[in-house]
Amino acid sequence: MSAAEGRHERDGGHAALMDGVYRWQRHIYDATRKYYLLGRDRMIAGLDVPPGGTVLELGCGTGRNLLLAARRHPDARLFGLDISAAMLETAGATLSRHGLRGRIAIARADATSFDARALFGETSFDRVFVSYALSMIPGWEQAIDAALAALAPTGSLHVVDFGQQERLPGWFAAALRAWLARFHVTPRAGLVAEIGARAEAEGRATVFTPLYGGYAWLIVVGPRADSRSGSASRSG
Ligand SMILES: C[S@@+](CC[C@H](N)C(=O)[O-])C[C@H]1O[C@@H](n2cnc3c(N)ncnc32)[C@H](O)[C@@H]1O
Repeated sequence: MSAAEGRHERDGGHAALMDGVYRWQRHIYDATRKYYLLGRDRMIAGLDVPPGGTVLELGCGTGRNLLLAARRHPDARLFGLDISAAMLETAGATLSRHGLRGRIAIARADATSFDARALFGETSFDRVFVSYALSMIPGWEQAIDAALAALAPTGSLHVVDFGQQERLPGWFAAALRAWLARFHVTPRAGLVAEIGARAEAEGRATVFTPLYGGYAWLIVVGPRADSRSGSASRSG
């Protein structure tokens, strides 16, 4: 992709593309995606939000994950952003139906570059998570930068997305990729390396867990080493 195409993607072309992909799909999204967006519930179960903590999802789609996280953490404050107005319309209706509009704020924004203070009045979050969105974001590396920048020093980043199907049959991997491409989804081969390098530069540890033979990858970036109490005395 040329620099000009890249700018176009970021400046509205990608938002229109996502609205086009989801204009009709959003009505059957939650019912169908539970069969193949695997690992989402496991990621949410591992959030371990501190009491009264803040949680941000990048690329929140229909709000399905925020709803689940809100149920698991009744005193957490939750936030979600998405580039697709169509998806946010569905998310808003779902949250209203469950009486959660007051606890979960959603906004339209690009995950590669957003101002959390302007959107939500928050400068950092205890947990940031990204579920099956990096594989749809052209500037996914910038989205990782933005996610880490939004994290509190003691906070953690949780990512689940398509892996490289590294332990699955070649025919299955090829068929899956061809099918995903129809939805503008590209599994990111460099996902673990890109996240790991950035995390290390910030003094954060990364835990990588391949799921279902590499169908999905779960990646958790922990708190900054210098934010943990007693770390100075331990490191001597
Ligand atoms: C496959 S859906 C995943 C939705 C949700 N996270 C889930 O797990 O069900 C990908 C979502 O990422 C959103 N998205 C794609 N590019 C984005 C970007 N640059 N910034 C914010 N959201 C984006 C899409 O609009 C879509 O809602």
